[in-house]
Amino acid sequence: MTDLELRAADARELGAVLAFWATAAENASRPPDTPAALAALHLRDPDALIVAVDRGRIVGTIIAGWDGWRCHLYRLAVHPERRRAGIGRALIDAAESRIRALGGTRIDAMVLDDNPRAHAIWAARGYRRQDDWSRWIKPL
Ligand SMILES: CC(C)(COP(=O)(O)OP(=O)(O)OC[C@H]1O[C@@H](n2cnc3c(N)ncnc32)[C@H](O)[C@@H]1OP(=O)(O)O)[C@@H](O)C(=O)NCCC(=O)NCCS
Repeated sequence: MTDLELRAADARELGAVLAFWATAAENASRPPDTPAALAALHLRDPDALIVAVDRGRIVGTIIAGWDGWRCHLYRLAVHPERRRAGIGRALIDAAESRIRALGGTRIDAMVLDDNPRAHAIWAARGYRRQDDWSRWIKPL
């Protein structure tokens, strides 16, 4: 963990982030990520995509989205060879710091029901599942 740097992603790193997600992120039950979608996020809110970088290599990511009204966390992922070393925890902490600084008062994360690893880390960081809501979606 000593060389780990947590910071906003640079526009030139977006391709590397997409490649990282292909192997490290939860990719089930969702549309594929595209360069255009990630570029649009970065253009709108360049600080939302936080990367964990170790000696120039991306080893973790999280998106800390803030729309002025609500805060949402997405794309928490840690390199498979670097898990259980506190990187996920550090990413969540960095995301919460950003949202706190922006004035957010509550934060939520999109988590698949059948992803027990994810349940474990969100629970360990103080998040709880909200059972009286479900997500309603409509592809555009
Ligand atoms: C989920 C994920 C991000 C965890 O990242 P990580 O860097 O390994 O997590 P940390 O080392 O910071 O773990 C923090 C705590 O979370 C819990 N935790 C994390 N992974 C766990 C696992 N596989 N089993 C049980 N508990 C786990 C533990 O309480 C852990 O603390 P401990 O190591 O002191 O016991 C990582 O496994 C991952 O990238 N998975 C694939 C993508 C994914 O599912 N993302 C979540 C989308 S919602």
